[in-house]
Amino acid sequence: MASSILALIFASFLYCSSVDANYRRNFLIRESEAEADSIANTKYRTAYHFQPLHNWINAWLGQDGLWRIAIGAEIGLKGRALLYKSEDFMHWVQAANPLHATNRSGMWECPDFYYLDGKERKYVLKMSLAETQSDTYMLGGYDEDKDVFSPDDTSDDYSIWLRYDYGKFYASKTFFDEKEKRRVLWGWVNESDNIADDVTKGWSGIQSIPRVVTLDPNARQLVQWPVKELELLRRKQIDLHEIELKKGDFVEIEGLKTPDQADVEVEFELPNLETAEPFDANWVLDPPKLCHEKGSLINGKVGPFGLLVLASHNLKEYTSISFRVFKYDKGYQVLMCSDQRRSSLRAEVDKPTYGAFVDTDIKKDGKISLRTLIDHSVVESFGAEGRACITSRVYPTSVVRGDPHIFTFNNGSESVKISKLKAWNMARARIS
Ligand SMILES: *[C@@H]1O[C@H](CO)[C@@H](O)[C@H](O)[C@H]1NC(C)=O
Ligand SMILES: *[C@@H]1O[C@H](CO)[C@@H](O)[C@H](O)[C@H]1NC(C)=O
Ligand SMILES: *[C@@H]1O[C@H](CO)[C@@H](O)[C@H](O)[C@H]1NC(C)=O
Repeated sequence: MASSILALIFASFLYCSSVDANYRRNFLIRESEAEADSIANTKYRTAYHFQPLHNWINAWLGQDGLWRIAIGAEIGLKGRALLYKSEDFMHWVQAANPLHATNRSGMWECPDFYYLDGKERKYVLKMSLAETQSDTYMLGGYDEDKDVFSPDDTSDDYSIWLRYDYGKFYASKTFFDEKEKRRVLWGWVNESDNIADDVTKGWSGIQSIPRVVTLDPNARQLVQWPVKELELLRRKQIDLHEIELKKGDFVEIEGLKTPDQADVEVEFELPNLETAEPFDANWVLDPPKLCHEKGSLINGKVGPFGLLVLASHNLKEYTSISFRVFKYDKGYQVLMCSDQRRSSLRAEVDKPTYGAFVDTDIKKDGKISLRTLIDHSVVESFGAEGRACITSRVYPTSVVRGDPHIFTFNNGSESVKISKLKAWNMARARIS
């Protein structure tokens, strides 16, 4: 890597994305309804996820009447958000100091800067790290006079920075919805198959379902939840209650016409946490690795339990979204995994394992919730009411063959109870 590059990503003004070999793949845009219809008939079509259209700029007005905008940059491996000011939105002058910079984090793309009010006001500085292809963020304060953001957590180790989504989710942007008084986030979710597939499909890359972003009451992290408008697409509803899942059980959620185009909300009650496996402090740095080693296949004590989606009837293919609880001196550690390893019989697609720790008080609550949006080749999961989000792209041959199923499962020795489960067929969104 060149030692001292000042890379201003003016592309972020317009597209907020990386300009690299993937460029060809990123911007195939639906232009007309007719085209949308033809796209909808291709393999792994998405019904309520869209191709990316365009992004927007986030500028903010200071008390001095000047507009401000943050631009991502890398200077000698130091990622930074440069600050520019303007009176008229036409002429921009760089401020002496960046809004924020850290050592070693590499190129920051698509910075986003906004605040959220909870018990106290928190500013959010989001950067898309080119190095890890992940959207990370910091919470902190903002000194309006000095134009400096100061994060609550000052760690330079970007591998442990908070992430919007612990799966595929990049180059995201937020906007403030004046009408509903909410901050809405959406991000780009790229494909996990290959360029030849893109050509066959006629499209590549989608936008996540827009999410409302709020501050967790503990002010340590953000919480995300799909916008309520998505619920307008819900059709037939399945309601299940009080299902006990013993070790090795899996129960199909029957009755959905389109299990490959569905919205599932489930709440798991954990009657006994006492036997949870001990947590090794070394695991804290790499939850995806832990998910890889202790995925749904490996029996545990409290968990793994969760959902198997886009599953074939004989479970030759499935994507599992699961939780596993560990005990350590200060309490419990909850691991959430989205495991794509068995998602497709196709060998040539990328099938990673994603994972995150969920900041939730499992001891107090005695339960944990999961919402998963399933859309043919997209699986977006929200753990513990949106405290941990994982999005993945999968290419099950069962979908193409018309054999998709959804199961709940438990592979832990402690029984878990599904206190309630709701699932809906989802209608196709219309683009006008
Ligand atoms: C970043 O690196 C510089 C030297 O390049 C050092 O002086 C500074 O203390 C470092 N900052 C942090 C937060 O480690
Ligand atoms: C897109 O996905 C591929 C395969 O999953 C991955 O290797 C690549 O880094 C991704 N690219 C971007 C820009 O996210
Ligand atoms: C549960 O564990 C068994 C035995 O390890 C394994 O064969 C099975 O595939 C696992 N179930 C899931 C859903 O991974």
